[in-house]
Formats: sequence, C-alpha cells, structure tokens
Amino acid sequence: MNRKLKLFYSIFFVLIVTILLYTGCNVQEEKKAMSQDELIARGEYLIETTGCHDCHTPKTFGPEGMKPDETKLLAGHPEGSQLYEIDINMVGPGKWILTNDHLTAWVGPWGISFSSNLTPDNATGLGAVSEEMFIKTLREGKIKGIGRQMLPPMPYEVFGKMTNEDLKAIYAYLQSIPSVSNKVNKPVPPPMVAELYGKK
Ligand code: HEC
Repeated sequence: MNRKLKLFYSIFFVLIVTILLYTGCNVQEEKKAMSQDELIARGEYLIETTGCHDCHTPKTFGPEGMKPDETKLLAGHPEGSQLYEIDINMVGPGKWILTNDHLTAWVGPWGISFSSNLTPDNATGLGAVSEEMFIKTLREGKIKGIGRQMLPPMPYEVFGKMTNEDLKAIYAYLQSIPSVSNKVNKPVPPPMVAELYGKK
C-alpha cells in the first residue's frame, strides 16, 4: 500500500471510531433513567408551570391580594367552606360560568364541580392511587382512573397529552408533598343546583 493510501485509511478509521463512540455515549445518556429526586424536581417544575395550583390550591386573601395557601398546597376545594349564593338565572349555555374566590368550585351547565385533593392523604387525597391509575386518570379523564367521567373545568384532555415520563414525574412530585386531610365535596348535579338555588 502506498503511504498516502495508508494515511487515508488511518484517518478514516479514527473518524469512524470517533463517530461510533460519540453516538454510543449519546444513546447511553438517553437511556439513563432519572433518579427519584430528579423525577420529583421535574414534576414540581411541571406543576408550577402548568397551572395546577390555580384550581387545586385554596387561596389566602391579604393586603398583597390573593395568594396560594402554603398550608394547603394542592389540597383541593376547602372542606366546610361556604357555598356562596348564586343567581342561577345567570348560569347556562350562552350565559355565565361562575367560580368561587379560591377557584376551587365551578358552576356551569354540568352542575357544581369541586377541585380534587391531589396530596398523598390516603383517605381524602391520592395516597391510594397507583402511578398507573394516575396516568389513566389524566389520559382518559376518569376519576381515580376507573371512576366517573371528570367534569369541567379540569383540562385533562390537555395534560393527558403529556409523555408518560412527564406524567410519572407529576405523580412522583404529588406523592412527595405534605399530606393534607381535606375531604372535597361531591359534585352537585344540575337538577340539585336548580333545587338549591331555585331556578325561576
Ligand atoms: C381550571 C381548573 C383546573 C386546573 C388548571 C387543573 N385542574 Fe385538576 N381538577 C379540577 C377539577 C374541578 C377537578 C374535579 C373534577 C370532577 O370532580 O369531576 C379536577 C380533578 C383532577 C384530578 C382527579 C382526581 C381524582 O380524584 O381522581 C386530578 C388527578 C387532577 N385534577 C390533576 C391536575 C393536575 C396534575 C393539574 C395540573 C397539571 C390540574 N389538575 C389542573 C380543576 C382543575
């Protein structure tokens, strides 16, 4: 073999080995699963940036205005809180949808819905819900993954489009936050709303 050809082959060989090593490392990096801490941090980031607190965290009202209640993070509609008076003639298709000051109770053509307790409390939150059931809840819009169809305004159609990994991260974070015992009201179906508030 002449020297030029030898040199060419050597450079070619080194190039191929470099490319193989580089792609090999990348594949390995992609496959590396997140640690539990990384998963929880990712879940916290997703929850903080997708508006879950807006509806699932009760608020406090002070001189600085309306703020998430730090003692009840993601605990859902506050148990025992007063249901305000509604002018039911204002509500309906082509009319208004109403919400309370915590943004945790919603009145519309579906009746009244209350945001769920997402903390890991066993009796009143998601403590007994498995990761698989949680993912099913958001993918299929069924309470606890197997129950009734979820009511508005929970945007499960939107969050259900997240990747499995993101939903697992959200689940890991929710299971890591402090448990809050808070029994959320059952939804009130439309005929009962009419009865409660006397539709004219
Ligand atoms: C616009 C308000 C709103 C936003 C934003 C919202 N939710 Fe909800 N969510 C609700 C309401 C209301 C319910 C209860 C619906 C029902 O009772 O049918 C609910 C129910 C749920 C449930 C079902 C709980 C159960 O017992 O099965 C899960 C899980 C949930 N939300 C997770 C989330 C997560 C995670 C986010 C953010 C990524 C989020 N929600 C954002 C309003 C909201």
